[in-house]
Amino acid sequence: MCGIIAVSKRTAALADVLDILRGALESLEYRGYDSAGVAVVIPPEAVTGKAPAGKASAGKAPDGQEVSDDKIWIAKSAAGTGSLNELAKKCEQFVLSVGNAPTDIVAGIGHTRWATHGRPIEANAHPLMSCNGEVAIVHNGIIENYFELGAQLQKDGHELTSETDSEVIAHLIESELAKDGSADVGDNGERLHKAVLKTVAALKGSFALAIVWSKAEGTVVAARRISPLIVGITSDLILVASDIPALLGYTRELFALEDDQVVQLRPGFLKLTDIKGAEIEPTPMNVDWDVQAAQRQGWDDFMCKEIHEQPSAVRDTLMGRLLPNGTLTLDETRFSDDELRSIEKVFIVGCGSSFHAGMVAKYVIEHWVRLTTEVDIASELRYRDPIMDSRTLVVGVSQSGETIDTLRALREAKRQKAKVLVVTNVVDSSMAREADGVLYTRAGPEIGVASTKTHLAQITALEILALYLAELRGTLYRQEISQLLKALAKLPLKLEQTLAHEAEVSLVADQFGQANTFFFIGRHVGYPVALEGALKLKEIAYLQAQGYAAGELKHGPIALIEPGVVVVGVATRTLLWEKLMANIAEVRARGASVVLVANQGDTETAERADAVLWVPTTHPLLAPILDIVPLQMLAYFLAIKHGNNVDKPRNLAKTVTVE
Ligand code: G6P
Repeated sequence: MCGIIAVSKRTAALADVLDILRGALESLEYRGYDSAGVAVVIPPEAVTGKAPAGKASAGKAPDGQEVSDDKIWIAKSAAGTGSLNELAKKCEQFVLSVGNAPTDIVAGIGHTRWATHGRPIEANAHPLMSCNGEVAIVHNGIIENYFELGAQLQKDGHELTSETDSEVIAHLIESELAKDGSADVGDNGERLHKAVLKTVAALKGSFALAIVWSKAEGTVVAARRISPLIVGITSDLILVASDIPALLGYTRELFALEDDQVVQLRPGFLKLTDIKGAEIEPTPMNVDWDVQAAQRQGWDDFMCKEIHEQPSAVRDTLMGRLLPNGTLTLDETRFSDDELRSIEKVFIVGCGSSFHAGMVAKYVIEHWVRLTTEVDIASELRYRDPIMDSRTLVVGVSQSGETIDTLRALREAKRQKAKVLVVTNVVDSSMAREADGVLYTRAGPEIGVASTKTHLAQITALEILALYLAELRGTLYRQEISQLLKALAKLPLKLEQTLAHEAEVSLVADQFGQANTFFFIGRHVGYPVALEGALKLKEIAYLQAQGYAAGELKHGPIALIEPGVVVVGVATRTLLWEKLMANIAEVRARGASVVLVANQGDTETAERADAVLWVPTTHPLLAPILDIVPLQMLAYFLAIKHGNNVDKPRNLAKTVTVE
């Protein structure tokens, strides 16, 4: 998804600010992008070399760089995942040509674009400029009324040059600035702030915006509705970014913009207002991630690092909730025990891997807590008119806490007066702030686009929630609960044992390296594991992979089973093991190759497979936390063998902030 960065730095040269922009864009890369761009306001004192060419009427120098008379320099690249390299070269050339003298203050903005409206070409890459070349903007989100706004702007004489929904914003700000009678006098930062207030009031849809105006030196104005935006502050630097990892290297003094807030920033100056211009005090965020956690630290890629961080992700998620005396505490959810006792129905909602974690939770909540539990994909739940009331608990599951589909579904639940609890990995994320209660997973920042450690941490947190509810509502005996808690506490060690089979999983990937059709099947809690295994393979290995409830295979998909197809079964020991084996026999009889996830030493299962992925034994309802790991590794090794970039798979975004 698009990533935004804005910087204003005191006593800086152009190269300093361009470096910060470039570095931040690199750390936003993981969100997924196809083009990128930066813009800086050039202070006259910075120009010591050959002055940049004046603004060609289209604003383009021959190499695709743009320079306006009004001192905004823009460079863009639409070279796919090579865009940031190309951009870095353009920045270097620019600094060489203009000079790099230190100046009082420099401001700039940058963007990684994940195309929605308009092709991934340079003309559509951000920053986007107003007609007069004075205003540059970067935008994440979708402007739903861009067509009407664009038509009016064109009638008023504006020339729109891109295919994007975003460009109207730059032109609207230009118009508002032109309408402002106090042109060229007074506080230009304030004038820009007011013009942005008027502009965002006219926008429908979602936006995270950062804006610079050549006449408001050193000022960045940023605004937000739905799409996330975080502000970071130091004594001589302010930063605005789409997410926390981009800011971690500079400061932990952060706050998140709320919906319909606009902020005006320079080092040493901050003015935060609501959409009507009333001033607001920012609320600081509590971030305990460190910079190293968001770096590769010698691993080949983030996905591999994060797969190996799973024992600690689960351990940290259990920490403080599972007490040394074998009991459970969950005070942090902000719900009283009476409120939790009054619940009559549970909805679980999420997208992608988070939805699969929610599916596991449905099985455990129904079994342990005896509460009717529905689990739904967020984009479906939001628009299917679900029936909820104050006795409904809606659990939103989201690694980022920002996924727009889940956010909207939770807002609908709140509208219906349901109690909303969020399971998320990002402290003070939008969902965390809006929900009635939060249960944080403690997996640390996850950079690989395909979720791994956060998925396991989500299942862990949801299992804890289920046990807590069971204890509170008396649906399990104390002794059963304490046995389950003991089993949970052993999982980090068992995850380490699972990861120790990595080399064997790699050999299985070699064995099936030529296959291009995979079916993942499982029963009961093995079913969401199968779905997640198939999703991982699709996401990073780009292979045809279907996840199915094993019992459903015979109702259609079995027609596709033939020699060459690989069936991956989640065959750890549960009550339904025999039934699963019957399904495995059916696919073997039709010539499929079979890979089974099996409990360590289970030769009976191994005999039915062409290859085995071993995991330790645990309680059957906790098994997904172990069983998914070899499937993550299988997808990882197949992706590597196919030469794919596992951290930045094609077309995907880490955090999806458009519907
Ligand atoms: C994207 C990511 C998935 C993730 C899903 C939900 O599609 O690529 O890995 O599972 O969003 O994200 P969330 O942050 O809400 O868990």
